[in-house]
Amino acid sequence: MKPLRRPTNRAKTTRTARIPLAVDGKEFAGRLAVVTGGSDGLGRDLVGALVKLGADVFFCGRTRQKGVAVARALGRRAHFVPADLSDNAAARAFVQEAAAFKGRIDYLVNNAAIDPRIEFEQATVEDFDRLVAINLRPYFVVTQAALPALRRGAGRAIVNVATTNYLLGLSPFTLYNASKAGGIGFTRSLARELGPSGIRVNCISPGWIMTEKQLQEHASVQDRAELVEAQALKFLLTEEHVTPLTLFLLSGCAGGITGQNVVVDGGKFMQ
Ligand SMILES: NC(=O)c1ccc[n+]([C@@H]2O[C@H](COP(=O)([O-])OP(=O)(O)OC[C@H]3O[C@@H](n4cnc5c(N)ncnc54)[C@H](OP(=O)(O)O)[C@@H]3O)[C@@H](O)[C@H]2O)c1
Repeated sequence: MKPLRRPTNRAKTTRTARIPLAVDGKEFAGRLAVVTGGSDGLGRDLVGALVKLGADVFFCGRTRQKGVAVARALGRRAHFVPADLSDNAAARAFVQEAAAFKGRIDYLVNNAAIDPRIEFEQATVEDFDRLVAINLRPYFVVTQAALPALRRGAGRAIVNVATTNYLLGLSPFTLYNASKAGGIGFTRSLARELGPSGIRVNCISPGWIMTEKQLQEHASVQDRAELVEAQALKFLLTEEHVTPLTLFLLSGCAGGITGQNVVVDGGKFMQ
């Protein structure tokens, strides 16, 4: 006869592997990460950090030459796949190539985006559709394609990259911010849907980060001075201030954190 089970109204607690006290990076060794848009800026820095920590990283970008050069510089664990994420089939093929490598995906970072400055009155429907196709739709297409492999993975963490730009209502970024703000709603609802399977979904919102491209193309000397003036911390932020946050959210140290949006902007926007 089966023993009777005592009824309980206590919520089920799930014991996971011992939670590390600090992100020492050891858990990334031998794991597989997918980073969209890893051939430049924040994505490139993250790919480099994950590779250094011993992970295999699949990353994509539209420009073959740039991606191949980054992969070559980082060594055999950096795998570049040329793919334009606005092409759904290409986005799925990129994810499938990554998943096939080890039969699983441990981490996914939805990072790729474009940030054109477009005055609202000059914007066209084509501009809007392009921003949605590159900045918003891939959160869905890439994540859905990665999900079966993420369920087989050990890392079980997704980080979506948004921006403080939409929190601050900066201009001329109305279309960009409409596309990026969607990432927050996407993160929160998906975190709830995937929580029961132990997959965490978080978002990071960087402020203005002085990547090579921002320094060369956008951030004038006056912009930089005004930015530092507006921040609580009186220095400019670079990729090195963003990558550790992403690593933390991917890591077991953040095992109890999901559905959150974490701002890294030197204290310009305070919620
Ligand atoms: N830098 C900042 O100040 C800042 C601030 C807030 C938020 N963010 C966010 O942080 C993320 C990274 O920004 P970033 O400044 O590092 O950008 P970035 O330097 O312009 O790099 C963007 C990366 O995405 C790739 N990419 C762009 N469109 C793509 C497409 N259609 N398909 C596939 N790959 C594509 C680019 O490669 P290809 O050009 O070869 O396609 C590149 O590797 C973005 O989500 C951005 O919104 C950045």
